Amino acid sequence: MRRKLIRKVGLAALFTVQTLWAQDKTEGKKMYVTYCSGCHGESGKADGPAAKSLSVKPANHMDGTIMSQLSDKFLFDIISKGGSTVGKSPLMPAWGSQLKEKQIKDIISFIRSLAVPPHKDSRK
Ligand code: HEC
Repeated sequence: MRRKLIRKVGLAALFTVQTLWAQDKTEGKKMYVTYCSGCHGESGKADGPAAKSLSVKPANHMDGTIMSQLSDKFLFDIISKGGSTVGKSPLMPAWGSQLKEKQIKDIISFIRSLAVPPHKDSRK
């Protein structure tokens, strides 16, 4: 009896820890729509209202053949430090001072969920 209870509590705790740590692509989506869609478009197709005025076009985040070539580290760096620090256009702003590490990871998780074919490391 007691052992069963302990196992149940243990499983519940494990589940809670996992959900707390899991990258939350729903949160990521909200932030993407708020901060990124102006240029990248809500669906990631680089068709946001500001996209037309960009001299350098962002990639289509729905295109898995392009996006899967970019590592999570590259995505994290360009989002947190901006395009110019990774040899890309400075038109891509740095978000590191506005967004926490976890928020950027949530956004990456959302971006990965857009890609077709899916990114090999995306198991969500
Ligand atoms: C002011 C317009 C603008 C905003 C806002 C913006 N980006 Fe970008 N982003 C760009 C441009 C332009 C590039 C292309 C840079 C290049 O290829 O040199 C880019 C590139 C990227 C890339 C690399 C892949 C690609 O599309 O070329 C990622 C990932 C990215 N942005 C994520 C984000 C995220 C996440 C946000 C919101 C937190 C965001 N961007 C907000 C303009 C923007």
